[in-house]
Amino acid sequence: MSLLTGYSSLFLTMRILVIGDVVARPGRIAVLERIQDLREQHHIDLAVMNAENVAGGFSITPSLADELFASGIDVMTSGNHIFDKREVIPYIARQERLLRPANYPLGTPGSGLWIGEVKGTRVAVCNLIGRVFMGPADDPFRVADEVVKSIPPEVRVRVVDMHAEATSEKVAMGWFLDGRVSSVTGTHTHVQTADERILPSGTAYLTDIGMTGSHSGVIGMNREDVIARFTSVTTRRAENSTGDTRICAALIDVDEETGRARDIKRLNLPHES
Ligand SMILES: [Fe+2]
Repeated sequence: MSLLTGYSSLFLTMRILVIGDVVARPGRIAVLERIQDLREQHHIDLAVMNAENVAGGFSITPSLADELFASGIDVMTSGNHIFDKREVIPYIARQERLLRPANYPLGTPGSGLWIGEVKGTRVAVCNLIGRVFMGPADDPFRVADEVVKSIPPEVRVRVVDMHAEATSEKVAMGWFLDGRVSSVTGTHTHVQTADERILPSGTAYLTDIGMTGSHSGVIGMNREDVIARFTSVTTRRAENSTGDTRICAALIDVDEETGRARDIKRLNLPHES
């Protein structure tokens, strides 16, 4: 690498904000109220969020998705709850910036991969779902391999949301994709982990970004309701919790020329509406 190339690459950094599972009204409002400030404060080029829990904890509606896109979110990933609302089916079929897991069966509406342009640079965002303690899905590793091979080589900036329960499955995916994508970050557990790092071949990794929503309950639900469900055989509907709202996210810097991550930071920001 010439000195000149080295200098130029210093300035070709794409800064990506990946927001963990946005849960129900508290999470939604926090994103709507803060996304522009976050974009400006951190000089964000690309804002991605996981949207599978936006509507009361289950899926997202077209109007809520439109509102979040209009507020400053560029791409949404999802997971096991994405089709809990039927109206998302025609929406996801036409809105290419709302992803569902790529390893869902062939014929599932929507796509697990988005390729677009950010400040003149092409970027890819991919959504995968795990199989350990999760519903049925195709092998995320085999599908990840296929997806990565399908991305044109000139698309160097590649962001992966691995929506999975088991930490081991997410760690394995990080190693599996190290050097082939810019970042692998996890969602689904709603609990932020503290293991962010750059893997040896240049992939930024974090097992779980954590939940954007109310942290006063149990992963976004009212704590008394959840405790009742754990301590009784009777079923009790768990309402969404409120209070102690936080925005959990990862801030990732990627070298646009090589696709290698330069830095990853965890964010865990209190939010008062
Ligand atoms: Fe999930």
